[in-house]
Amino acid sequence: TRTPVNVTVTGAAGQIGYALLFRIASGQLLGADVPVKLRLLEIPQGLKAAEGTAMELDDCAFPLLRGIDISDDPNVAFAGANVALLVGARPRTKGMERGDLLEANGGIFKPQGKAINDHAADDIKVLVVGNPANTNALIAQAAAPDVPAERFTAMTRLDHNRAVTQLAKKLGASVEDVKKLTIWGNHSATQYPDVFHAEVAGRNAAEAVNDEKWLAEEFIPTVAKRGAAIIEARGASSAASAANAAIDHVHTWVNGTAEGDWTSMGVVSDGSYGVPEGLISSFPVTTKDGTFEIVQGLEINEFSRTRIDASVKELEEERAAVRQLGLL
Ligand code: NAI
Repeated sequence: TRTPVNVTVTGAAGQIGYALLFRIASGQLLGADVPVKLRLLEIPQGLKAAEGTAMELDDCAFPLLRGIDISDDPNVAFAGANVALLVGARPRTKGMERGDLLEANGGIFKPQGKAINDHAADDIKVLVVGNPANTNALIAQAAAPDVPAERFTAMTRLDHNRAVTQLAKKLGASVEDVKKLTIWGNHSATQYPDVFHAEVAGRNAAEAVNDEKWLAEEFIPTVAKRGAAIIEARGASSAASAANAAIDHVHTWVNGTAEGDWTSMGVVSDGSYGVPEGLISSFPVTTKDGTFEIVQGLEINEFSRTRIDASVKELEEERAAVRQLGLL
């Protein structure tokens, strides 16, 4: 029998945690033949609710679930972790400046990065979901000098999935027909969903759409502002779709992208496409056997260049701000 994979989830008692844990335990994160042990990290106020969720996980009698530990100590929760999903974060509250937000999250992600550095398994893979996801991932990565930088990733898969559906709908196609779509940059309102290399049922997507005004004025804002639209409609933020995207992100990282397709992940830049080295920015990536590569050689037109640059500029500003706070 296989050794269970240790999966640590932070913010386990939150909305996304509740939508995520059952899917991990049922085998959707790593595969239907991979047993898992869950490690839940919460702040002290969240421990009781996490225990309630653990009771429900027990009550599902998932055959693949080999144990659940709950802790408020990162050094315990990340011990032996093979996969870490960093969901818990400090949300922006009314009147909070960006600097305050970055500082509050630095107080979470720096010690978590250090705990991963000191206690996680050698093959640790980290996905940061908690916002500001790219910069939180950068802070955690900087605090983990013994872990290869490319093991720290940030989630833009929800944006990717949102864009796939919007594009499929526009062209009357099925989501399965959409390939090679890219989210570039920051997981924020400046993100750039790029259809110029995408294919829909084998046809170039930008040519099939043939409507730059729709791209600029409907598609891009719809994808970038989808989170706000969901809060407006549902009265609560997107949790199930975010959890779904986290499942997709890790599943793709571990199991690989399909031939002739790629996905979007926030990963450490090697300087590709003019994105300054070391920033954690979203790129088109292919994955195989638990590793990824940034897709090379794509031609970037003027329409895309301006938008990628704007989002990357925002990432640089966030990096400068956290540097100034001594978080890097
Ligand atoms: P939530 O507020 O329902 O849950 C967050 C949980 O994290 C709470 O239970 C809280 O106690 C816990 N927490 C806070 N600090 C912690 C720490 N230091 N260690 C462990 N746990 C801690 O929020 P929700 O809806 O689950 O969202 C979580 C995060 O995901 C937010 O930052 C949100 O902005 C982000 N998000 C990111 C998306 C993406 O596409 N990258 C999409 C949707 C949400």
